[in-house]
This record gives sequence, structure tokens and C-alpha cells, in this order.
Amino acid sequence: MTSISEGFVSGEEADGPKRDAAHAAVERYVESGMVLGLGSGTTARCLVRRLGELLASGDLDGVRGIPTSEETARLAREMGVPLVTLAEERPDLTLDGADEIIAELEALKGWGGALLREKIVASASRQGLVVIADRSKLVGSLGGGPLPVEVEPFGYEATLRALAALGCEPELRLSGWRPFVTDGGHYTVDCRFPEIPYPVALEEEIRRIPGALECGIFVGLLRGAVLAREDEVEILGE
Ligand code: A5P
Repeated sequence: MTSISEGFVSGEEADGPKRDAAHAAVERYVESGMVLGLGSGTTARCLVRRLGELLASGDLDGVRGIPTSEETARLAREMGVPLVTLAEERPDLTLDGADEIIAELEALKGWGGALLREKIVASASRQGLVVIADRSKLVGSLGGGPLPVEVEPFGYEATLRALAALGCEPELRLSGWRPFVTDGGHYTVDCRFPEIPYPVALEEEIRRIPGALECGIFVGLLRGAVLAREDEVEILGE
């Protein structure tokens, strides 16, 4: 199982499958003039780099991005990918990584710590979300790893208790000795459920907890998935 990070590690994303998935997704889904939601994480970094290259070479023109994290925004600026905000534009499509994906086009996200912004941007996208990933992220059912929940810091102890009452072991994500803080100033709680047989019902239950802002269940948002391994790229969905 991939470990949960306290944010995104840069530098190693040039490795094969993540890069192949990002490049294949750009080729298949991205056209000049599009506004793209730009995901977060190491695979999304490959995407942003690719967009930068194609904009620099003139193979793409007029593409603008809406970043889902400060890290992605920084890389986009470095790579010369123009950025806009949700106040200015509605994204046509969002491209983002994922932590677990099932063939029915449902995903679990948030191990990288950006799930709330990722969900806001994906939900706002006209054509939804296409996840890009190493094929090892394809699993039989969601919930092999913990489900991240972004929570309001105020009274988070009560939120943890309410999450535990749903049948999981909640753990406040730490960065060293302190709570890990998202770009939006929130905490993240990693909830280990024995299984997640009904993701939509669980998502609804979590939303009923006042301090829980969003969870990493992405159901009804995916238009497709681009999964790569070795020299092979597989597309699920449209
Ligand atoms: C970020 O909050 C996550 O949802 C990421 O999309 C996820 O962790 C995938 O990251 P990698 O591409 O680094 O595996």
C-alpha cells in the first residue's frame, strides 16, 4: 500500500507509469483553449509538466489551469501554465491522481492532503474528473487503505469521536508532532474502516457530522481513468 504523505514530494515523479498516464490523458482529453482543473500529487505533477512542455512548444495553446493545491500552483507557474480561479472560469475538465480506483469509476482520494480543494474543483468541472494513475491503484473495492476526511480544527476531538461512531479507527494526520494542516487551514483525519461496501451512504453519513468538511470518496464524479503500467496504458470510461 502506498503510504500517506504529509504533502507532496517533488522530484521523483518522472518515473514511468505516472508519467505515461499523465501524457496519455493529455493526448486523449486536452484541447487548446480548455480550462483544466489541475490535481495534486506526484502524478498530477507529471500532468502539469506535460502541459507546460506542450504550451512551450506551441502544440497546445490557450490552456489555463485551476490548481487544487499551492504545490500544484507553484509548479504550474514554474512551467508557464497560466492559472485562473473558480471565480473567473468554470473548468471544462479536471485531471487528477487518486489513491484507490475501482473499475466502476469510483475513487478514494486524499492521501496527499488536498481532497477538499480537489473535490470542489472536480465537482465544478463540466466534464467531471479523469483520474490518472499507476495501474497499481486499481483495486477490487474501496477502503483497503484509510479514508481521509478533511475536518475543521475547532472541536476536532468531537469530530473524531463522531467519525469513530461510524465504525472506523480515526487518526489525526500529523506532520512531525503537530497536526498536518491543509492549504485551506484544516486538519485531516485518516479513518480506517474494515471495509467500505456502500461508499455513497458513508459519504452522506460523514457529511452529517458538522466538523467534517469532506471525505475522500469520489463517486459520481469520474468520467474516466487512465491507468498505466510498464508500456501499457488502459483507459476506463469515456
Ligand atoms: C491528494 O489529496 C490525493 O488525492 C492525490 O490525488 C493522491 O494522493 C494521488 O497522489 P499520487 O499521484 O502522488 O499517487
